[in-house]
Amino acid sequence: MARFPAIAFSKIAVPKAGTLVITAGEGGALGGFGAQVDEAAGGAVSRAIKAAGFKGKSGAALDVWAPGELGLARISVIGVGKAEDMEAGDWLKLGGQIMARLQAGAGDGATVVLEAPGASEEAVAAEKAADAVLGLKLRSYKFDKYKTRKGNDEEAEAEGKVSKVTFGVAAPSAVQTAFASRDKVASGVLLARDLVNEPANSLGPVEFAKKAQDLSKLGVDVDVLGGKELKRLKMNALLAVAQGSARPPRVVVMRWNGAKDKAAAPVAFVGKGVVFDTGGISIKPALHMEDMKGDMGGAAAVVGLMHALAARKARVNAVGVIGVVENMPDGKAQRPGDIVRSMSGQTIEVINTDAEGRLVLADALWYAQQKFKPKFMIDLATLTGAVLVALGQHHAGLFANNDELAERLVAAGEATGEKVWRLPLGKEYDKQIDSKNADMKNAAGRHGGAITAAQFLKRFVDDVPWAHLDVAGTAMGSPASEVNQSWGSGFGVRLLDRLVADHYEE
Ligand code: BES
Ligand code: MN
Ligand code: ZN
Repeated sequence: MARFPAIAFSKIAVPKAGTLVITAGEGGALGGFGAQVDEAAGGAVSRAIKAAGFKGKSGAALDVWAPGELGLARISVIGVGKAEDMEAGDWLKLGGQIMARLQAGAGDGATVVLEAPGASEEAVAAEKAADAVLGLKLRSYKFDKYKTRKGNDEEAEAEGKVSKVTFGVAAPSAVQTAFASRDKVASGVLLARDLVNEPANSLGPVEFAKKAQDLSKLGVDVDVLGGKELKRLKMNALLAVAQGSARPPRVVVMRWNGAKDKAAAPVAFVGKGVVFDTGGISIKPALHMEDMKGDMGGAAAVVGLMHALAARKARVNAVGVIGVVENMPDGKAQRPGDIVRSMSGQTIEVINTDAEGRLVLADALWYAQQKFKPKFMIDLATLTGAVLVALGQHHAGLFANNDELAERLVAAGEATGEKVWRLPLGKEYDKQIDSKNADMKNAAGRHGGAITAAQFLKRFVDDVPWAHLDVAGTAMGSPASEVNQSWGSGFGVRLLDRLVADHYEE
């Protein structure tokens, strides 16, 4: 499993050993502490900055090995660019860059001193410093549980060496407090990443539900519904997807009641949890089919979010509902042309068995809405390849029937770096999923595929404010970033935690 460095906080001081990380601003300018270190090192840092032509650009780094008489293994200077212009999200990224630097060389027992050289306020506020610590932690995650030869892996060896990082800050206890809640959120993100990265042979619906069940340790009420109950509830659309798999489906309902008023309407999160999507009888081509182990990224984000909310004792009532199934071709699998009656009573003609996520969500959304009468409902799903065509991998697709909710999600995306981009809904698109033989069909033409999928979901939402996040491009296989090097990103956990923290806590 990924090993995380132990993190500690102390007053700002020059350490006696290991690696010291300091920051430099525009033009390679050092801050007050950086200058003090340079002096103690006999000017070794400023000489290196000059000799290397180091300009302190954001993301650039310079290592000074065995500087002066200090006894340190190295001083790593990390550029922050024009410190005055740093935005909220830049501190998170900086933390990730620092972790990368630490991993890229020897010198365990690292000390990090954050400054904003050149900014009017050189001392870094606790919240920003805590963001950097969060970035460092997120960056250190690696999915390596199936690597049996770690010792021979050079890369892994270097990583193992970063076992402790001390942040030297003006007010250690303030940063520690600010980081404590972020650390809980980080655990939720990493849980989601673990679930997405885990292959489907070891993570079927039953195993996935067990992982969700573990949230009960945090005070989350977890109910796992199996085949019989799902039949009783008439979740026939979800069951139709599951019927081709040897592994039975699960719907998991997670409740966190953190609000003072335990009876207050909850906020609801619904996730697509297809543990593996072969496409079913409308089978997918072989190329990259292995990626479909991540087709439960929406459900993973819901579990990670519920973990985060419960662990940090968010003052909100929240429910998570995930539909967990496997989409397989089989003698018992559903066929194109089949017509199923969803829990809502609406009938669906299954044109394409590979458009299975919407069938799962149709029942999960309906259930969440009927049972909990939520304040709002947000679903996350790796729903369409079309959203990748539209937005690439840098924004999730956002669809909403409510402008306020959409705007809040966009703002939370900007704040966390988990960005979302709103796409339209409309009558014309809705018409595209009308069916000759049933109330609707589960697949329309290729054009606007992410939108027609969203229109389909919308038919299972009444008046409740609702948003749909198509995370097919962002939950998995997203490009390595400052804060994530792993295939599964955990996208959505920080976004939705932020949404809740900013607007829905007492
Ligand atoms: N899980 C896929 C969508 C997907 C594609 C996620 C690529 C991540 C990466 C989904 O179930 C699917 O197969 N959608 C089809 C819908 C179509 C048949 C209407 C698609 O996008 O092609
Ligand atoms: Mn599919
Ligand atoms: Zn799918």
